[in-house]
Amino acid sequence: MSRSVPDAPAGPILGIETSCDETAAAVVDDGADVRSSVVSSQVDLHARFGGVVPEVASRAHVALIDEVVAEALVEAGVDFKDLVAVAACHGPGLAGALLVGVSAAKAIALASGIPYVGVNHLEAHVWASWLDEPTLPLPAVVLLASGGHTLLALVEGDLRTRVLGETVDDAAGEAFDKVARFIGLGYPGGPAIDRAAKEGDASAVDFPRPMLEAGDGFSFSGLKTAVVNRVREDPDLPTADVAASFQEAVVDVLTTKLLRTANRLDVPTVALGGGVAANSRLRERVAADAEAAGRRVHLPSPELCTDNAAMIAALAHRRLAADGPTPLDDGVTPGLRLSG
Ligand code: KG4
Ligand code: ZN
Repeated sequence: MSRSVPDAPAGPILGIETSCDETAAAVVDDGADVRSSVVSSQVDLHARFGGVVPEVASRAHVALIDEVVAEALVEAGVDFKDLVAVAACHGPGLAGALLVGVSAAKAIALASGIPYVGVNHLEAHVWASWLDEPTLPLPAVVLLASGGHTLLALVEGDLRTRVLGETVDDAAGEAFDKVARFIGLGYPGGPAIDRAAKEGDASAVDFPRPMLEAGDGFSFSGLKTAVVNRVREDPDLPTADVAASFQEAVVDVLTTKLLRTANRLDVPTVALGGGVAANSRLRERVAADAEAAGRRVHLPSPELCTDNAAMIAALAHRRLAADGPTPLDDGVTPGLRLSG
């Protein structure tokens, strides 16, 4: 069985993540040992708008980035001179937000004379499980479910990642956020629905399971509309029951397709990544179904599922070994995709 981690310069790498509404910095040694991971969430700034406002996010990143980087270095007990490289997420994400992290990383690289590494946010989410558990067997099928993306990826040795299928409309996290807003649970919706669902009956409403039988792709926009229509028809439905039934439909689709794909390809491992992977019901179902299917499962800690910079620094270690430094004239790519 192949291993995923080639040799790379030993020592601490500073990672920076500013693709959306978290300003994050982390120091990770050798792609495996997290010495610090600081995440400053802007949730309160965006909550009154019901979602992330790009210009507000960029300005908040500018205000926070120095402090967050300093805190990550102090917590790790290192100085700029101890770093072997500095990495930043260069896409996908909001252009202005990405520019803040990438510009900070390049400035540090220039001033400290160390390599800069631009990291793909989606690839970092997918490989987060190997930061937790570097010897997790490959190949693996990883379900990445976040606010902007929902996809199944086959990951193999030498950092090869192949997208098997992705959502044709809304991402799973986007559906959580939109449904939560509609039923009055506020923003961010995923954690709110997760909490509310614990008090509800998941079999109260039999919501559709979109694209359950169709290939490796996903679709969540119709499910969101089904929730809206059902609640309009029956305004007295308890919110907790709607939350639990909606969550059950999403979890059913995600889990069924993840395990079916893993069984078809006969891979030893399944893993999760992205903010929705923090969902307690999804974690429970994936763990149970993977065990029943005889596949090893890895569920990264919830802090490693939602946006963070440890996953950026860890992947940078592997990317640096595989590709070398990223040129300093390389910019940001808001629409960056996952491939290779
Ligand atoms: O990966 P992430 O932090 O940022 C993106 O790359 O998008 O994912 C954020 C998404 C949001 O849509 C949020 O509602 C969702 O992940 N999320 C959850 C939970 N925690 C975060 N969804 C369901 N259950 C959760 N516990
Ligand atoms: Zn993310």
